[in-house]
Amino acid sequence: MNSIRIRRPDDWHLHLRDGAVMAAVIGDTSRHFARAIIMPNLVPPVVTTADAKAYRQRILDVLPAGDRFQPLMTLYLTEQTDPDDVEEGLKSGLITAVKLYPAGATTNSHGGVRDLDKAMPTLERMAKIGMPLCVHGEVTTPEVDIFDREAVFIDEKLDVIRRRLPDLRITMEHVTTKDGVDYILGADRNLAGSITTHHLIINRNALLVGGIRPHYYCLPVAKREHHRQALRKAATSGDARFFLGTDSAPHVDPLKECACGCAGIYTSINTMSCLAHVFEEEGALERLEAFASLNGPAWYGLAANEDTILLEKQEQPVAYPAKRDTEAGPVTVFDPMFPLHWTVV
Ligand code: NCD
Ligand code: ZN
Repeated sequence: MNSIRIRRPDDWHLHLRDGAVMAAVIGDTSRHFARAIIMPNLVPPVVTTADAKAYRQRILDVLPAGDRFQPLMTLYLTEQTDPDDVEEGLKSGLITAVKLYPAGATTNSHGGVRDLDKAMPTLERMAKIGMPLCVHGEVTTPEVDIFDREAVFIDEKLDVIRRRLPDLRITMEHVTTKDGVDYILGADRNLAGSITTHHLIINRNALLVGGIRPHYYCLPVAKREHHRQALRKAATSGDARFFLGTDSAPHVDPLKECACGCAGIYTSINTMSCLAHVFEEEGALERLEAFASLNGPAWYGLAANEDTILLEKQEQPVAYPAKRDTEAGPVTVFDPMFPLHWTVV
């Protein structure tokens, strides 16, 4: 197969940032994707429906002319979140989901939730009204090894929330372990998982072998090879509980290439090429559409996009820029470490 037409994809986990970086990166998403769930971890974070409304407008203001991209907004859950504001956000159609960042789990998450009990009134309201919860599934306890943080989160936090609020719809975002995949497969309802492009391609060796490579550092951090294999199996299975959330997370190079570099990998620009490569390798090209274009909208109660994109396999490798230049500095583009032949035409 040298070409494949699929419904236009959506990205169910995306960092667009703000200002100069957003203006430079947004076209890399809106070129191929119809919709994306926009992460709220700005500085300061997007915590109220009013914040989200203003941020949405800033996104639309920098959208390249002619692109019909629709940003799906999220609220950053805090211990002070007002359940009425969340309900209003859902009813007005402005807010698609609420995001739980355990305090300190990742970039710009210091204002996240420390004590889940304090967020319970909001979570209870969300379960009642049908507002989905997107979860960064890692514990932040210093004693827990960073490679175990997802598995421990599942046992100690996620399972507790799900038992307490069985009606709450939860997206376990950027699943990186077999433990996560198995936990989702074992849930009978109200749980789904997004998977990034890069976690289908790299394991932790990419980050650490032959030198420390900051452009492969993200959170949750890439794990061992058998976890990557489990993610590939889940993503290419066609199972409706798994869908694409790129977690494309641009940081300018000086913030990554330093003694304490930021987490985040920038993949928006070549994600569809990378995914076609992975799905072809797994003999599952015909299931790319389910992963990138069908399962996500079904989970969020939206229709799949009407229009389509065409992917073609070229003889010559596709040339992507090594950097996306922004007025704030260059952002390094994810290098999958193999030539990409698939391209969106
Ligand atoms: C994200 C960021 O930079 O905002 N970084 C990342 O490594 N994925 C935050 C996040 O989603 O964890
Ligand atoms: Zn993210």
